[in-house]
Order: sequence, then structure tokens, then C-alpha cells
Amino acid sequence: MVFQPYNRNALIKWYDENAANYDDLSYKQDQASYGGDAYRIVLVKKLLDGLGIKDVLDVGCGTGSPMLALLEGGIDARGFDLSPGMITEAKSKLKKAGHSEALARVGDILDMNSLGDLGKRQYQAVVANGVLPYIEDVDTAHKNLASMVKPGGYYISAYSNELFDMTTFNRFTMRFHERNFIDPLDMPGDAKDALKAKLRGMVTNPDLPASIPEGGRDEIYVRGHNPLTIPDELKRFGLSVEDMVFYKFHAFAPLLRGSTDAERARFIELSRTYEVNRARDWRGYFLASTFIIVAKKAG
Ligand SMILES: C[S@@+](CC[C@H](N)C(=O)[O-])C[C@H]1O[C@@H](n2cnc3c(N)ncnc32)[C@H](O)[C@@H]1O
Repeated sequence: MVFQPYNRNALIKWYDENAANYDDLSYKQDQASYGGDAYRIVLVKKLLDGLGIKDVLDVGCGTGSPMLALLEGGIDARGFDLSPGMITEAKSKLKKAGHSEALARVGDILDMNSLGDLGKRQYQAVVANGVLPYIEDVDTAHKNLASMVKPGGYYISAYSNELFDMTTFNRFTMRFHERNFIDPLDMPGDAKDALKAKLRGMVTNPDLPASIPEGGRDEIYVRGHNPLTIPDELKRFGLSVEDMVFYKFHAFAPLLRGSTDAERARFIELSRTYEVNRARDWRGYFLASTFIIVAKKAG
């Protein structure tokens, strides 16, 4: 299985096709499904409440479930998403809950002209949950996101944790070493290739997972970010990272979790003990596949 290049149409198609079952894929929690994104909603709400924020733009709002949680918690929220299918879901949920469907619209964070009135003002907080992993032109996204934050306001965003790839001993681990440790070295290409071949022998499962049933990572472009370098990246856009929390924990390296139902259930149960209450545990840098930053715009 190869990693996919960025392709906007493929991205829209994947989310359109998965819009109807997206909430089940992401939020359902039972013995078999981790539903880690449900922790994201809890954490983001907690972070916003802690900062006293009442006015939010939800970028890449998806099916609207997080937006509804904010509205129901007394926060004035509205949002947009690249996928018309996701926005259809969001509008229907908003309507059912008695809110205006107009709170959700189609728009692309890479194109300010596509945002209509939503892009013409600034907000106490701009939230972007799980959107940056699907964007190649991250600088343009960060510039546009920062432009919609009021001075003294906040950018709150969930990214895929690239450091977690070190614990999976698979093709993601290979990609992490190649991109971060081998490719930047000042040495001839064939010497780099030799290092990569050696590395392949050390990573226990270089071709796994052959396919990933959730999240579309086999079909569409997806990337991680490094929680250690994101503060410097965001400084360039006038944003200063003040807080970081982790979620989607793995109690230990996922390949160790075993193959029986009982072993898998124990892995899930232990992993859940980290969520929310231990969201700032240092192990999150390595064992959580996702992290949220809270960054303040200079006032
Ligand atoms: C992992 S989902 C998260 C959805 C939602 N934020 C949530 O927390 O449930 C990522 C979302 O980002 C949207 N997205 C990807 N690229 C985008 C872009 N350039 N502009 C706006 N939305 C985008 C996708 O359509 C998808 O709905």
C-alpha cells in the first residue's frame, strides 16, 4: 500500500461517500470501536470553557456533531467544510436540533473567497479539528486560519501526532525515519537508499497495515505533525502555543495488543484510562495518535 499524494477531488469524494456513517466511524464507543474523536469534543469544549470563549468558527466542521455540542453548551458557533456531503449531514442535524441550517456551509480554508460572510470577520476562537492532517499546503491554511482570529483570541486545532508513528513499527515508522532522519542528511542518494534498506530490516512490519478500514488513509492524502515543532511553525503566523493536550491514546505500542478478544478489550480499557483526565501526560507525545494545541494571537 502506498501513501497517497494530495488530491482535492479525491478528498471531497471520500468525505462525501463516508458522510452518512462518519459519526459511527469516529464517535461510537463500545468494546470493538474506540471512538477516540468523542474525546476531542469533550477536550475542545473544556478548553473553550476554560478560556471563557463564547464565539467560535468551526473550520472543517464535518457532520456538525462538534458544532452542536458547542451550541448546546451555550457557545455561539458556526462552521464550514470542504465536503458538500458532510455539510448536508450538518444542516440536517442543526435543523433537527432547532438551529438555523445556515450555521453550516461549504467552504475551503485554502480559499478565503469560498467562505462568504464567514471569512469577512474575526472570532474569539477559530477551531479546526482533524482538518490539517488532510491539507498539503499547511502554510496557506495556517495563514488563513490566523487571519480569522481576533487579536487576543485563540486558534484551537487537532493534528495527527507524527511522533506516534515511532511506536507502530510499520510503514508509518518507515516514513517517519525517512522524512525526518534520513532525507535531510547531507549525503548521496544511493547512501540514503542503503540506510533505508537497512531500516526496513529493523522495522518489524514495514508493509503494515496493508489497509486501514477507518479514516481513508489508504485512499487519500494524510499527514502528521510534530508536536515539538508546531509551536515554531505557528509563531510565523503570529500564534503562540499556550497549551497542548493529547487524545486517542494507546496504552502501549499497538502491535503488542494481542489477537484475542480479551487482549484487545484490555488494551482498549487501559488506553481509555489516559483519555481526558491524563491528556497532558508526557506519554501522549509517543502513545497518543492525536494532539490539540491552544495558540493565542497577539493582542
Ligand atoms: C477528520 S474530519 C473532522 C470533522 C470535524 N472537525 C470533527 O471534529 O468531527 C476532517 C474534515 O475536514 C474537512 N476538510 C478537509 N480539507 C478541508 C479544507 N481545505 N477546507 C475545509 N474543510 C476541509 C473534511 O471534509 C472533513 O470533514
